[in-house]
Amino acid sequence: MKKICIVGGAGFIGHNLALQLRTLGHEVTCVDNLMVNNLISVIGNYDTLKFKNLNKKIINSRLNLLEEHDIELKIMDARDYHLVAKFIDQLKPDIVVHLAAVSHSNRSNKDPFNTFDHSFRTLENVLDATRDKIERLIYFSSSMVYGNFSKNEVDETDNCDPIGIYGTLKYCGEKIIKAYNQVFDLPYTIIRPSALYGERCVSRRVGQIFIENAINKEEIKIGGDGEDKLDFTYIKDLCNGVVLSINKKEAENEIFNLTYGNARTINNLKDILLEHFPNAKISYEKRDKLMPKRGTLSIKKANKLLGFSPTFSIEDAYPEYIKWYKEFTNSRI
Ligand SMILES: NC(=O)c1ccc[n+]([C@@H]2O[C@H](COP(=O)([O-])OP(=O)(O)OC[C@H]3O[C@@H](n4cnc5c(N)ncnc54)[C@H](O)[C@@H]3O)[C@@H](O)[C@H]2O)c1
Repeated sequence: MKKICIVGGAGFIGHNLALQLRTLGHEVTCVDNLMVNNLISVIGNYDTLKFKNLNKKIINSRLNLLEEHDIELKIMDARDYHLVAKFIDQLKPDIVVHLAAVSHSNRSNKDPFNTFDHSFRTLENVLDATRDKIERLIYFSSSMVYGNFSKNEVDETDNCDPIGIYGTLKYCGEKIIKAYNQVFDLPYTIIRPSALYGERCVSRRVGQIFIENAINKEEIKIGGDGEDKLDFTYIKDLCNGVVLSINKKEAENEIFNLTYGNARTINNLKDILLEHFPNAKISYEKRDKLMPKRGTLSIKKANKLLGFSPTFSIEDAYPEYIKWYKEFTNSRI
């Protein structure tokens, strides 16, 4: 069993991953400042004011789950190098998973300065604090590093040409990790997820916006004609892939796409939504030019080296997520 430190561990992916790793018997510590897309920002941010009570309740349920599962949450700002270095020295983790970031491309484009600090500064701090000291660093990159997909299905050897602040900083993150590996032999695994959805997310990505707006009887605006494709991935599939990459030596110094591996259109997702909310109001608006054209991320490499085999199609998992959302919003806020 390993000692695992998750930086950004109170976030959507972080807490789900922490719970899964803990259930498997690992000793897990989460580090988070709760400031980005988390408790402190949902209370103070005008954009999310409308969802303040619901988001607060969702995030509190994450924190309760961490506590119930005996997972320590260290509230700490990973932008502060000295705090990070001291903490890593005391904890002595085997594995560090780096998730801290402004995890949303629109928000990154609106606020490059803070995105650099929370996404890149934190990564640099973790790299410097862990070199020579850990078995492996797991870094969360993104499908956005590819930019516009040059074909229907991209694999890890395909060219990366990101558009905008988010994807570009993710790509910089990959490069600096490789540099630390070259200079200090720090072992790494880079994960490229895409279009995640699932319980206790407050990021307002497409899958969540659909459900939230349908519940609130608000219009759902789809950018473009809805025929853009995304490789929608259920959180449990992603966490299973990360667990495999932690356990397998074959994951060392490799990059993996970890997605469902079969892109679907936004309209496909909308059709599933309509089965559960027949009266949902849908409209189409101009497509965001900074959003790259995407598609399927090949998971052949992850399948071959890790035995990764996702099981949740949107037909299986999206209705489960809708069910959870309905129950959660019906319970007392
Ligand atoms: N969710 C997706 O669909 C998706 C897709 C591709 C890549 N990713 C990447 O995976 C990672 C996690 O995504 P998520 O969906 O869980 O995002 P999230 O916003 O839910 O979680 C990020 C967490 O990092 C924390 N954080 C940010 N800055 C920090 C700092 N300075 N110190 C300490 N903690 C800090 C935040 O408080 C938050 O809890 C991100 O790097 C994101 O870019 C996510």
